[in-house]
Amino acid sequence: MSELQAPEDPPSRYNSSSQGLHWLSAALMFTVVPIAWYMQTLAKDAPGRGDWYTVHKSIGMLILLLTLVRLGWRHFAPKPAPLATLRPWETFLSGAIHILLYLILLGMPLSGYIGSTAAGRPVTLFNLVTVPALFAPDKALAHLAHEAHEAGQWAVYLLVALHVAAALFHALIRRDGVLRRMLPAWAAR
Ligand code: HEM
Ligand code: HEM
Repeated sequence: MSELQAPEDPPSRYNSSSQGLHWLSAALMFTVVPIAWYMQTLAKDAPGRGDWYTVHKSIGMLILLLTLVRLGWRHFAPKPAPLATLRPWETFLSGAIHILLYLILLGMPLSGYIGSTAAGRPVTLFNLVTVPALFAPDKALAHLAHEAHEAGQWAVYLLVALHVAAALFHALIRRDGVLRRMLPAWAAR
């Protein structure tokens, strides 16, 4: 924005911090899931298996932290006004999917964390910092959380697929500027 231009009111795009947080969480999501697939193909005694689990859990905990920061940040940088060209049901549906995406960004790490700590297994950030266990070992709770983590993956696949397909549809077919709202000015021409 040039110095002579007034800031938009209300803004039509996400600001750079919201964009940065969005793309960082997206990149971490696209990393944590393939690591989960890979680590589960390894035999119990395969060398390095524990390290892959540590990396999966650590990235997952970073996603949780980042999501808490993001939700807090939303108070200072509220969501930009919806595009006027969208139909009301489209605005409603995208808002509903965003809420569900936030729920999986919280629910997947939480179920993973509860599943591990309640099973008595350590959770660290890359073996550098130990995340305190809030639960005493509890087999039933560990089992429940583990089931939720396993089932939750299907919500992740479905919601991320819908979200990315919608972004691509708007960018390539509608060409209505929905994707531009989440891109920095230099990439949004
Ligand atoms: C957004 C964050 C996360 C996502 C999207 C995610 C996703 C996944 C997926 C897709 C699987 C494979 C499920 C299966 O095939 O059974 C998995 C397994 C697993 N995840 Fe996560 N995860 C996340 C965070 C975490 C965290 C924070 C922890 C622990 C602190 C964790 C611990 C585990 C463990 C221990 C397994 C293996 C379960 C088993 O061996 O059956 N995950 N995760
Ligand atoms: C290539 C991948 C992705 C693209 C192209 C993309 C694109 C976008 C776009 C354009 C928006 C703004 C929508 C609007 O203005 O209404 C948005 C918002 C959002 N995206 Fe993504 N996204 C991607 C991946 C992800 C992933 C993996 C997640 C999380 C699992 C995610 C979670 C969200 C959330 C929660 C919002 C709402 C932000 C808010 O209003 O607070 N996105 N995304």
